[in-house]
Amino acid sequence: MQHVCALADVPADEGLRIASVTPPIAVFRTEDGEVFALDDTCTHQDASLADGWVEDCWVECPLHGSRFHLRTGAVDAPPAKLPVRTHRVEVRDGEVWVALSLPDLRPDLQGVPDEH
Ligand code: FES
Repeated sequence: MQHVCALADVPADEGLRIASVTPPIAVFRTEDGEVFALDDTCTHQDASLADGWVEDCWVECPLHGSRFHLRTGAVDAPPAKLPVRTHRVEVRDGEVWVALSLPDLRPDLQGVPDEH
């Protein structure tokens, strides 16, 4: 696992972009105090999900409004069609650690961001 930020750096119901890993990830903290990490870049176009709106364990893309589930990475509706990767998170002594998931190599998930 790698250290990515302090929990205090992640406001409740908001995301924090972590650009020190490639590709960048976004760490989210819900109002209930749960912490999640997803790939930061929307699978539709080049938008940062850390800038999105968090509600009920979903983050809404700030550009066109597809929502991604914080626990599974699943997308709810177009224009995005592909899920984002999720990453395992542990919070220890107020610090956030993440185990990055491997890229999903299934051909149907080879997401080149959609240009439409
Ligand atoms: S860039 Fe995220 S839905 Fe379009």
